[in-house]
Amino acid sequence: MGFTEEIAKRRTFGIISHPDAGKTTLTEKLLLFGGAIQEAGAVKSNKIKKGATSDFMEIERQRGISVATSVLAFNYKDKKINILDTPGHKDFAEDTYRTLTAVDSVIVVIDVAKGVEEQTEKLVEVCRMRNIPMIVFINKLDREGKDAFDLLDEVEQKLKLTVTPLSFPIGMGYDFKGIYNIWEKNINLFTGDSRKDIEETIAFDDVNNPELDKIVGQKHAEKLREELELVTEIYPDFDREAYLKGDLQPVFFGSALNNFGVRELLDCFIQIAPQPRPKESDTRLVRPEEEKFSGFVFKIHANMDPKHRDRLAFIKIVSGTFERNKPYLHVRHNKNLKFSSPNAFFAEKKEIVDISYPGDIVGLHDTGNFKIGDTLTEGEVMNFKGIPSFSPEHFRYVNNADPMKSKQLEKGLDQLMDEGVAQLFTLEMNGRKVIGTVGALQYEVIQYRLEHEYGAKCSYENFPAYKACWVKPEDTKNEEFAEFKRVKQKFLGHDKHGQLVFLADSEFSIQMTQQKYPSVKLYFTSDFYQN
Ligand code: G4P
Repeated sequence: MGFTEEIAKRRTFGIISHPDAGKTTLTEKLLLFGGAIQEAGAVKSNKIKKGATSDFMEIERQRGISVATSVLAFNYKDKKINILDTPGHKDFAEDTYRTLTAVDSVIVVIDVAKGVEEQTEKLVEVCRMRNIPMIVFINKLDREGKDAFDLLDEVEQKLKLTVTPLSFPIGMGYDFKGIYNIWEKNINLFTGDSRKDIEETIAFDDVNNPELDKIVGQKHAEKLREELELVTEIYPDFDREAYLKGDLQPVFFGSALNNFGVRELLDCFIQIAPQPRPKESDTRLVRPEEEKFSGFVFKIHANMDPKHRDRLAFIKIVSGTFERNKPYLHVRHNKNLKFSSPNAFFAEKKEIVDISYPGDIVGLHDTGNFKIGDTLTEGEVMNFKGIPSFSPEHFRYVNNADPMKSKQLEKGLDQLMDEGVAQLFTLEMNGRKVIGTVGALQYEVIQYRLEHEYGAKCSYENFPAYKACWVKPEDTKNEEFAEFKRVKQKFLGHDKHGQLVFLADSEFSIQMTQQKYPSVKLYFTSDFYQN
């Protein structure tokens, strides 16, 4: 198979949802269709179970699992599918945001009873900002839930999407009869038997055909006809170009647990979802078809074994082929590196591969060379864009609790930050270090890992910040900047790239600062300097 065919057959995507909407279940059913696993229950959920005895011990246990589920690859029909795992737990949202820089499209899972939930809103917003093509899967139709039209409204309003249903439920909950597949023009009858791979599907291109009454009963047939008429009136026709641009989102209904509506979703997905897409770098747009290799690190996973401090860096291949033992340029270090054992991922296992193509993810063993966002090329000096840090939501001073181990603490913090566990800010005034995280859980994780992997001890103290706002000194007028720096002295620091950060203590303080020092622009993600 030629290079362009290899690219054309790849579909690299992520599934996003609020915890418990059914992401793990759907992933598992997709893997079953791909023959990548033989039975349900084979994919261990890497979510943190509610009521776990100690959340962070649970995280440690899950860390082992999550290497295995980071990339789940399988073949389906003539396509090679890479599902990138995105943690649903909100304390790991930053991991998910970063993974979204490596996907070419996403599937959004929504619980039919709960509708659009908080985490979904945040993740969809990130996808919307990046024009990532999205398909919505409304799950748990076997349960009582919201009316389909109400849900579609909610999706449009809360997620700010333009939807078009490509399937429509017939009944719901105890009265759930099946689904009319608008895309394939057939009816899928619900049997409630999750062991079946293929449900009973009846080709049916005209719902006005009286046969429909016999199949689903008169009441449901009439309702379906009315509803489909409304669908045609209200929603735009599916348009692949609009979907690919992120302007239109098709919606499917189903029940992942019952393996219902999943094949339809997958069949449509492989037809419409994009193959690996071009990616913007700081110098130019890089196309997958280019002959020369380029890629970037979107995730780093520390080894579970503290005796070997090596890590696995996950690289998304953007262009060309990645070959084993060939030297590539690590742009930030300006140094050539060779990799003798790049890993490719399959469902639940990894293998050493000789060659990988755009859209693929390779795992490279790393002894501390990589940071999230690093670019590798075949010699060209450029950096891929769009791997920002978002403002943390929690801030604490970190103190050294064992003065004999200050080197270890420094090294541990440095490496954990490279992994993207949290963000470290150094205060300008006194050099004290502040750790910012998306979730409070991360503090326990950091403390635990510093002790077990680096032999260092730390303690925390509250730091009264609310949001990190990045500041670009060259934006500002000199005298205004000097005044800002003097007044806000206590709240200024630098991130690990040396960028100036204002650690604001409230929304009010952000507003006041913007009013008082209009030339001091505040940025809420760290990638402003790349734009
Ligand atoms: P997540 O990864 O998005 O967090 O969700 P997950 O797949 O773990 O699903 C959350 C719960 O919802 C699970 O039940 C799962 O069995 C259930 N579920 C998923 N899809 C459907 C569906 O189509 N219909 C119904 N009725 N339930 C569904 P649980 O009891 O929390 O966990 P488990 O003990 O079954 O693993």
